[in-house]
Parts: sequence; C-alpha cells; structure tokens
Amino acid sequence: MKKVKSKILVTGGLGFIGSHTVVELQNEGFEVVIIDDLSNSKIEVLDGITSISGKKPEFVQFDLKDKKLVKQFFENHKIEGVIHFAASKAVGESVEKPLLYYENNIATLVFILQEMVKNKVKNFIFSSSCTVYGQADELPITENAPIKPAESPYGNTKQIGEEILKDTAKVEDLNIIALRYFNPIGAHKSTKIGELPIGVPQNLIPFVTQTAAGIRKELSVFGDDYPTPDGTAIRDYIHVVDLAKAHVSALNRLLGNQNKTNFETFNVGTGKGSSVLEVINAFEKVSGKKLNYKIVGRREGDITSAYADTTLANRELGWRSKLSLEDALDAAWKWQVKQV
Ligand code: WQD
Repeated sequence: MKKVKSKILVTGGLGFIGSHTVVELQNEGFEVVIIDDLSNSKIEVLDGITSISGKKPEFVQFDLKDKKLVKQFFENHKIEGVIHFAASKAVGESVEKPLLYYENNIATLVFILQEMVKNKVKNFIFSSSCTVYGQADELPITENAPIKPAESPYGNTKQIGEEILKDTAKVEDLNIIALRYFNPIGAHKSTKIGELPIGVPQNLIPFVTQTAAGIRKELSVFGDDYPTPDGTAIRDYIHVVDLAKAHVSALNRLLGNQNKTNFETFNVGTGKGSSVLEVINAFEKVSGKKLNYKIVGRREGDITSAYADTTLANRELGWRSKLSLEDALDAAWKWQVKQV
C-alpha cells in the first residue's frame, strides 16, 4: 500500500485543468480536497475523477469570495499545499464585467493567502497564463520576457495576481510557484473528464469539436492576414494531461524544498507553435471529419504568435510535455463524441 502523501487543497478542482490535475495528484499518492463553487463546472466531474483514479477526493462546495468560509476551511483542514485554479477565465466576458473579474480573481486570492499564512500552510501554486506577455518581442518566449500591459481585465488579474504573490513572498513564510500556461487543450484518454465549456465556446478547440459534432454550424477563423506562414495566428497548444503533470512536478519541488527563491515562475507549453489552419488540418486527420469553417476578420485583442521556451521548466521542474497536438485533438474529439 503506497504511503498516502500530504493532503493538498485544489481550488477549482472540478474545472478543466483542475480535474486533470487532481487525477495526477491522486496517481502520485497525494490526498486531495477540492473546493469548487460549481459556477463553471459540474458535480459529475467528481465521479469522472473517482472512476479514473479509484479514489473519491474530498469535496467542499462554497464560494471563495466568502471570507468566513475560507477561514473555517483552513481551521478544519490540515493541508501541506494549495494549487489555486479557481478563477473566472473568459477574456471577452472580462471586458464586459471587469468588477466581477477583479472581485472573483483577486479578492479570493488574497483571502486564501491570508488564511495560509495564519495556518502556516507554506506551499502555493498559482494558475497564471502566457497572456501576461501580450505579444512578446522575441519568440520562443522565456520567463524573462517583459510583462506587457494586459489586453483584458482577465489578463490583468493574472498580472496582478503574480504581483500580489511576489510582494507577499517577500515578507511571509510562503513558497510560491506561478505556472504560466500556454493553450491548454485535450481531455483524459479515458474520456471520463475533459473540457466542458458552458454556452458558446470562446476557445478554439471546443469550437472545433462542437462544429465537427454538428452542434455549431461552422467555425470562424479569426483572421488570415497575420504575418505568419499561412496568415493565421500561432499558439502553443499543450495537452491538459501534460499541463496537469507540470503541477505535480511543481508541488514536489516545493515539498522537497528545491525551489531557489520563494517566488518562481515557469512557462508551461510544448515549445512548438501551431497556426489555426494547422490545427484544423491536424484535427481533420485525427478525426476523419471534414471541418466546416470560414475565414473572417481578426478578433479584438488577439496576438499574432506565442509559443514557449520551456528550458527552465524542463531543467528546474524535471518536466517536459510528452503528448502531441494530434494526441490532444484525438482526445478532445473522443471526449466530444461522448457528450450527449
Ligand atoms: C486560439 C487561436 C484565435 C476561436 C486565451 C487566453 C489564455 C487562455 C486560453 C484561459 C487564436 C483563434 C479561436 C475561434 C479562432 N485562457 N480562434 N476561432 O486567445 O490564445 O488564449 O484562451 O484559460 O489566457 O488568452 O485562445 O483558444 O481563444 O484562441 O480562429 O472560434 O484560435 O484567434 O488565434 P487564446 P483561443
């Protein structure tokens, strides 16, 4: 019987990246407790996690904006670390509802950190984003690339979140890692968990799979006049299972006191850029479906190209992405087909 390792809090653990990370934590022998308010996830995800790992994580449903409940939680649970996913993440919505984003993404972060300090919980992993770089001047993007003015309140909450962590780590006994995700895609190979966009998908891959499934009439490709080989924008699409494993590597780094400073950032991507048209072609190949799409104008706020320099994460976290774009698209399609 594997010795059960530390108990870890995963906020937003029923979400897309959170649920895949809970599975990988359990596979590593960690005990997991999830806080999720189900505002952008479904309780069925808990069964999906359990059916994959064979262990049902503890689950507490409440809104992290309720400071009293956050306080109570930390007083009633002895945990060794926190992986913080819970946040609103729709770029477009954040432009229309900035205050909702600043309250939900910033106030909750402060409440959690306050209770961690009070209860001497030291290890914290933050869900950040490559969006902090805006359109980087140099590609691939390293962690030293300048932080550019945010293009949306969502992106700004990631930048502000990192600033809060940096300032707090200077004076409190905390060990913090911010993981800057590139574009998470795909689903678990079991097809028991995956991406569950509520409403019309904002992101490319769920829109692609819903179009192929006949749920959407056709995909709009936002611009083919970018200065790229085929004119469409380039992103670094990382399989969500590889991304989940990066969180376990980061947690092990902190639990093993291997971090070099008490606030570190790592880019988590594949290091490979793919254009929208390349993604469409790869999807048609793995799914055998012909995708119905049309080229339209650029989307406001989109950048031309972003892909990661993964040297630091490879070396310091001992982690690298192993799954391909095709693996992720195949898993995303199989997950889509299973949705009723
Ligand atoms: C990818 C590419 C679009 C939809 C954002 C956030 C990032 C993270 C992931 C939350 C772009 C094109 C898209 C469509 C299209 N956020 N596209 N038609 O914008 O790179 O990143 O989502 O987790 O922080 O910034 O991802 O999937 O929206 O777009 O042509 O219907 O696909 O223009 O080039 P993005 P995306």
